[in-house]
Amino acid sequence: MSVETPQQDPNPARQGSPRRSWLWKVGVYGLGAAFVQAVWSTFRFARATVSYGPPKKFNLGPLERFAPGLTTFVEGAGVFVKRDEQGVRAMSAVCTHLGCTVRSEGSGFVCPCHGSRYDEEGHVVSGPAPDPLAFYELKQDGKRHLVVDLARPVDPKTRLRGT
Ligand code: FES
Repeated sequence: MSVETPQQDPNPARQGSPRRSWLWKVGVYGLGAAFVQAVWSTFRFARATVSYGPPKKFNLGPLERFAPGLTTFVEGAGVFVKRDEQGVRAMSAVCTHLGCTVRSEGSGFVCPCHGSRYDEEGHVVSGPAPDPLAFYELKQDGKRHLVVDLARPVDPKTRLRGT
């Protein structure tokens, strides 16, 4: 009659006590977690989260919002939308002196900070503003909403037509 003895595992890490086995597992899981964290951090680092300044494009809403013959201030975008029979234009409401927001007064515009005055086309009537108010590119998006791009100044005579 023969008695079989159980074979021992040749790996010393698996031969030890339950505590040693538990420590082995904690170490393996810890290394795995550290690896996952390192990969995650690398991807986050590669995808920059920088801001390139305030937005330059603004949806001004549907064209019907702007009545023909009127100049309408759009506060969020800082522009006046001027619509006439020839088309639509977007004129900056930012004073060219130190950047205050001008307001409509009479047929022109006045800056509340230092009193610069502009005519209805944004030309300087009285300083200290050094330059006329800028005009910006206007387009229509897929929903036929007006979109102004403050990064693209245009000639004051440029109008969005065919609307
Ligand atoms: S900021 Fe407009 S006049 Fe100075």
